[in-house]
Amino acid sequence: MRILFVCLGNICRSPTAEGVMRRLVHQAGLDGVIELDSAGTGGWHVGESPDPRARAAARSRGIAVEGTGRQVRREDFERFDLIVAMDGSNATNLRRIAPDECSREKIRLLREFDPQLDRGAGGPIGGQELDVPDPYYDGAGGFEVVLDQIEAGCAGLLAHMREGRRA
Ligand code: 4NP
Repeated sequence: MRILFVCLGNICRSPTAEGVMRRLVHQAGLDGVIELDSAGTGGWHVGESPDPRARAAARSRGIAVEGTGRQVRREDFERFDLIVAMDGSNATNLRRIAPDECSREKIRLLREFDPQLDRGAGGPIGGQELDVPDPYYDGAGGFEVVLDQIEAGCAGLLAHMREGRRA
């Protein structure tokens, strides 16, 4: 099973999601069963290391954020079983560039998997409520919010994957 996390720059949110998920997968004993990667829809930070602010925030929670920035490429739509976007604009861009044969069901938002989000009385949530907001122009506090949302979303995503394996 292969999961690709996608944001805009591939230096803040998606490498953080990859690092958070890598740790959860390891703790679940699923290394080698669930393969992970991340990429950006934009190409400005190709070849760069993750943003030092994202690395520092994650490190303080014991999470390693590593890798080298890269842009989403055509083969990704075939190679990965699930393509998990950080916000609605990332998802829209992915659906726009996806080859026709790529199932649109593959492209999901991370926060759709967050069990803490209330889908109760108010009906289904949607729009920006499902976004992990872009922290690039924020202070350090933005990175903490992003990490909270990513940790919750990844925990839900792992639960979803395990359900699928049992089914
Ligand atoms: P990310 O954050 O999409 O979470 O990696 C960003 C990084 C860089 C830029 C925007 C968002 N940028 O405009 O360069």
